[in-house]
Amino acid sequence: MSFSEGLVTVSYIAATILFILSLGGLSSPETARRGNLYGMIGMAIAIIATILGPRVSSVMPIFIAMLIGGSIGGYAARTVKMTEMPELVAAMHSLVGLAAVLIGFANYWDSTIHFEGVEKAIHETEIYLGILIGAVTFSGSVIAFGKLSGRIGGKPMLLPGRHMINLTGLIVVIIVAKLFLGAESGVWGSFLLMIMTGIALAFGVHMVMAIGGADMPVVVSMLNSYSGWAAAATGFMLGNDLLIVTGALVGSSGAILSYIMCRAMNRHFIAVIAGGFGTGGGTAPAAGSGEPQGEVTPISAEETAEVLRQASKVIFVPGYGMAVAQAQHTVFEIQKALRERGIHVHFAIHPVAGRMPGHMNVLLAEAKVPYDIVAEMDEINHEFPETDVAMVIGANDIVNPGAQDDPGSPIAGMPVLEVWKAKTSIVMKRSMASGYAGVDNPLFYKENNRMLFGDAKKMLDEVLAALRAGG
Ligand code: TAP
Repeated sequence: MSFSEGLVTVSYIAATILFILSLGGLSSPETARRGNLYGMIGMAIAIIATILGPRVSSVMPIFIAMLIGGSIGGYAARTVKMTEMPELVAAMHSLVGLAAVLIGFANYWDSTIHFEGVEKAIHETEIYLGILIGAVTFSGSVIAFGKLSGRIGGKPMLLPGRHMINLTGLIVVIIVAKLFLGAESGVWGSFLLMIMTGIALAFGVHMVMAIGGADMPVVVSMLNSYSGWAAAATGFMLGNDLLIVTGALVGSSGAILSYIMCRAMNRHFIAVIAGGFGTGGGTAPAAGSGEPQGEVTPISAEETAEVLRQASKVIFVPGYGMAVAQAQHTVFEIQKALRERGIHVHFAIHPVAGRMPGHMNVLLAEAKVPYDIVAEMDEINHEFPETDVAMVIGANDIVNPGAQDDPGSPIAGMPVLEVWKAKTSIVMKRSMASGYAGVDNPLFYKENNRMLFGDAKKMLDEVLAALRAGG
């Protein structure tokens, strides 16, 4: 069975509509499952239509490639821990970039493709841009993978004159582009393409190495955007409309997400695009900064249960530690027990809590915490002064008052959840270690703050048992 060109076009239009519906569905936790389903159906239609379409002459190599790629992808998806998702996403982005580079070279070397005049110039421009964006995406994503998985330190690497280096690279890339478009021989053209690829790879490494830990969330969504543009460029090279549209959807939605995250973290979008932004961010913990910088007041699980029982309004602030401990199901039970007692319970979600956009929303949705008590930072921040207990579960940077009070802090200016304004704040973590940005947290030493030390799951189980035992 094979599809005619017309049937392929119709299938591609159907897939495009499903992809748009998918993106729409992903905008809210209630519709996210449906959104994913639309995306899966759209992708299945796209793959089937492409394989059965008139442009594929031999199906076997595609099946073999799909079997290998699908097995690796299936294995990774089954075994990856929720806390390792950001690394996996970065690794996937690197593959999109690599594919764009390889397809670019294959297209240039393909002896069956012949264009003349303007068409030749357009085709070569597509190849040049595709390889350029793909190479930056590839090397940038590999470094982001290394940083997110802890294989490369979070400290920003700042070369002297780094903006000058980037500018020089850009100028060379433009000059090489001009030479490439005028190249008479394939050997000379290939040589020029390789020079540009080398510069683009180095730029990707340099750009992400210069970014501090605290600013990594924006980098991840920015690379997401780059991977979309790389796919769109590949679509142009292959003359595949669906790839162009899909790439543009990913590219623009990634750019919008980057913009939203920049705003949430009080960073400048243009500075992000230029790379090496926020370099004050993510300074590695100074020696001894993990040491207590003052006196903290510990609290036991039983005492925590008692404080919660006495409260009339409680706000939970989940962070990366909740994901590590997989404590969301116990959190669900605790909020249920409190609400049954008539206590008002809310969840406050910081836009960069955890390690990827929406990380906390996904975990809370998985545990079936009702959506109507989950609020975004801007909706709930003003409610802390009239809150009895702010319960911080494995969060650190996102509740650091230093972001407001200390202009020298790497996270200075980043909006934070003002938990210290509640009557009592309780911070759950295992030690006095710093968070992702590697900075000390003055919240821990405040008079109205208590520290509940231990693994979040274990301690919350104890709090729940004490709550239940207390009747
Ligand atoms: P963090 O600042 O990283 O703090 C998490 C805290 O959880 C740590 O201080 C850790 O302290 C504690 N913890 C870890 N495992 C725990 C466990 N099993 N039980 C109890 N506590 C545990 O996280 P956050 O407050 O969610 O802030 C997010 C940070 O990550 C920001 O700096 C953000 O910029 C960055 N980031 C975000 C993203 C996205 S897109 N959201 C992506 C990359 C980076 P102990 O070790 O003492 O337990």
